[in-house]
Amino acid sequence: MTYQECINCGTKYPIDEVVYFCRKCGDILEIKIDYDIVEDILKKSGWRKTPLSVWRYRDLMPISDPTKIVTLNEGGTGLNKCNRLGEALGCKQLYVKNEGENPTGSFKDRGMTVGVTKAVELGAKSVICASTGNTSASLAAYAARAGIRCAVLIPSGKIAYGKLAQAIIYGARVIQVRGNFDQALEIVLKISEKHGNIYLLNSINPFRIEGQKSLGYEICEQLDNDPPHRIVVPVGNAGNISAIWKGFVEFHNLGLVKSLPKMTGIQAEGAAPIAQAIKTGSKEIKPVNKPETIATAIRIGAPVSWKKAVNAIRDSGGTAETVTDEEILEAQKMLSRLEGLFVEPASASSIAGLKKLVENGDVDKDERIVCVTTGHGLKDPDVAIRMSEKPLEVDAEVEAIERVLGLKKTVSAIV
Ligand code: F0G
Repeated sequence: MTYQECINCGTKYPIDEVVYFCRKCGDILEIKIDYDIVEDILKKSGWRKTPLSVWRYRDLMPISDPTKIVTLNEGGTGLNKCNRLGEALGCKQLYVKNEGENPTGSFKDRGMTVGVTKAVELGAKSVICASTGNTSASLAAYAARAGIRCAVLIPSGKIAYGKLAQAIIYGARVIQVRGNFDQALEIVLKISEKHGNIYLLNSINPFRIEGQKSLGYEICEQLDNDPPHRIVVPVGNAGNISAIWKGFVEFHNLGLVKSLPKMTGIQAEGAAPIAQAIKTGSKEIKPVNKPETIATAIRIGAPVSWKKAVNAIRDSGGTAETVTDEEILEAQKMLSRLEGLFVEPASASSIAGLKKLVENGDVDKDERIVCVTTGHGLKDPDVAIRMSEKPLEVDAEVEAIERVLGLKKTVSAIV
């Protein structure tokens, strides 16, 4: 019923075969489901009665044994209508899907609950990933939950402190690599090929994408099965944008929604190979050798899932944009101050990108738009503190506080 298929040459692999790249052409794989069978199962399963979460969509997940699910209650995140931010950006109908509400504070948990469940089904005792921070935090948590060993490779000195703290406290083997994310990923790919007993859980693993597609399903349902015109997503290694698109396409193919959104990818200016390819109409991406941005989560120069992302953007009639670090930080503050949503810099790039697209006339003000904010602001408190005005310090006296708050002396009257 479900199988793995190469996105380039269409070679099929059984669902339980551990294979990361097509053995014929070397491209990446995706999971295919049989819509007729799933449609029947959905009709009988009563899925709509379960709470909004990744596992509400269990019938659409490639998992064979529901008793072995490794979960921390992921998904079911808020879709916030943002009128004040919308007004500031000139968008009439703006929503923010706040993925920082997930158990470890990022959307990665959607993929890891499925990925680690699959690892357990396959009998894996060890899992590994390379990460700019959130993937490592999430994998470490789910491996702990499953009681299996976990190793994470991170670029030395280039991940936010909150994420490092998470990976360490969850008990993962944390290895700082003297190099960037792209180099760390190359190493874990080689290690998992060489040592078959270590299961790879970067987003080239198509089971991760299956969990993350629930983000698309949830947006459909939260908008009463009337998808938005556009989804704006930060893009790094490029798994998530294609996962969300897969969610929408599957709901569409199952007849649950009638329209599809335009997928819009945002990258940081110093790490934007996909946005460049979209802008220039190129078939291939040109990897960036030394990616740089304050948004460390998306500091990636050679995104491994680039082809899936480019396909999602082009097939949906979407677009891509780049944003500077200054624009990202400004958007982070706007979202915090206008809506009370504190997200990490990479997440704010979706807001910054939308602002630019509206200003340039590439996005219509009347569109119904969902920006995905991918990770919680407390992941990276250093940047927030460094880039904001310092708090005042005064003596512990009422008068001192009154002075700084500009409170005038008034005669209090009891009536
Ligand atoms: N936003 C955040 C907060 C992320 O952590 C990431 C990716 C992305 C956006 C981009 O998602 O890679 O699917 O395009 N972080 C990965 C990590 C690379 O290792 O945590 P993507």
